[in-house]
Amino acid sequence: MKGLGVVILAAGLGKRMNSTLPKVLHPLGGIPLLQRVLRAARSLDPQKIVVVIGHGADEVRRVCGDGNITWVLQARQLGTGHAVRRTEAVWRDFSGDLLILSGDAPMISRRSLESVLREHRKQRATLTLVTATVEKPSGYGRVLRNEKGELAGIVEEIDADESQRRIKEVNAGIYVASSDFLFAALEGLTTRNRQGEYYLPDVARVALRDGKKVKTVEVAEAQEILGVNTREELATMEKALQEKINRKWMEAGVTLRDPQTTYIEEGVAIGRDSVIGPSTHLLGRTVIGERCRIDGNAYVTDARLGNEVHLKFSVVLSGCNIKDHVEVGPFAHLRPGTVLERNVTIGTFVEVKESLVGEGTKANHLAYVGDATVGKETNIGAGTITCNYDGFEKHQTTIGNRVQIGSNTQLVAPVAVGDDAYIGAGSTITKDVPAGMLALSRTEQKNVKGWVKRFRARHKKK
Ligand code: UD1
Ligand code: MG
Repeated sequence: MKGLGVVILAAGLGKRMNSTLPKVLHPLGGIPLLQRVLRAARSLDPQKIVVVIGHGADEVRRVCGDGNITWVLQARQLGTGHAVRRTEAVWRDFSGDLLILSGDAPMISRRSLESVLREHRKQRATLTLVTATVEKPSGYGRVLRNEKGELAGIVEEIDADESQRRIKEVNAGIYVASSDFLFAALEGLTTRNRQGEYYLPDVARVALRDGKKVKTVEVAEAQEILGVNTREELATMEKALQEKINRKWMEAGVTLRDPQTTYIEEGVAIGRDSVIGPSTHLLGRTVIGERCRIDGNAYVTDARLGNEVHLKFSVVLSGCNIKDHVEVGPFAHLRPGTVLERNVTIGTFVEVKESLVGEGTKANHLAYVGDATVGKETNIGAGTITCNYDGFEKHQTTIGNRVQIGSNTQLVAPVAVGDDAYIGAGSTITKDVPAGMLALSRTEQKNVKGWVKRFRARHKKK
């Protein structure tokens, strides 16, 4: 089989985005547009992937630079035809088909690309253009056909006349071309158009003129070829992507109580019969087990939840690992490095960070647990704080099994509390507490007889 190379065009500024961020780095479903196109390209296992960059080149390279990519700089954006031509030297020793993609058209699937390549090879075409029929063709190049329905050329919207603008078959901006033909054809392009640019689609006219075999392939799902040129288009695409992901999870047996306000990123997995409430964000590599309940307003990033976990209303979780039957919230914050063993309860206004909390332990109200190891069946009273930071370093708190930490306790780390210990409410614990003992550090209470009367009398005189 002939070799396959990929060229991705990503040098443009994306003027219509009105952004300091290069257009191809704007995220869609949390993944930059160009990363998505690269993913589709890599799925075809090509010999080489070349990305043409210009605007924000360094930033683009930094964000998308992992993996084997050849970068080509197009310092001045003289058009899509010029951009491809800039890669000629890279392909000097290459002979085969080049697939050209746009960095701003992120929805194209591996399946569609494979079928385009298959068709191109089956037809032994010199050039294959991908087209789509869309309801709103504005902004796209229109596909011109002769009486026989054969391709006659592409006309950009800005150069099109009234009747051409009514055409709904558009150029997807995806092409397969034999490399020898392509670079010869690019040499012949001119800038005689309204934008004064070298238009890549003009190679179709060159091929037709020279009697080469030019084919078109229409994608079944027009959605796949949509390009992002404005923030509005990005938002529309985000919505469409979200709907697709949500549909997939509902089909897989997950209840979404309000799909309209549920945002699930692609890297997320959700177990069967979990119920997800409104305004929930499940992001990154989050994994949700089976029969979990998420009441709503949850913002969950890179978290792992076991089965039958209940996230009550309004919780923020990131980078944590939660085992089966845990309850969290409402209004709790679980930060990276948190591990909650089975049957733990983390209640209202509790924050946990870099801590392991043992099976059956409860912190029901108003607590901060950071850099701690907490045993099983322990109770952390309301207002407990691990004082883990001295302004320079973080220190560890260790709490054993079946410990009762009284309300409003400060545990000044480094400090350890042994199994079965009790800590009296309001204590500031600065020394280790041995197992089975009561620790109390508050001052003894005094009741002063007659004090209130004297105090009030003194104030009345003034
Ligand atoms: C282009 C096509 C149009 C097609 C549409 C599909 C041309 C002339 N027009 O229009 O027929 O319907 O895509 O989405 O090709 N780029 C460069 N260097 C340049 C110019 C552009 O790298 O000098 C890159 C851009 O960064 C972008 C891609 O090429 O990723 C397409 O450019 P864009 O300006 O978005 O072209 P469209 O107007 O969308
Ligand atoms: Mg575009």
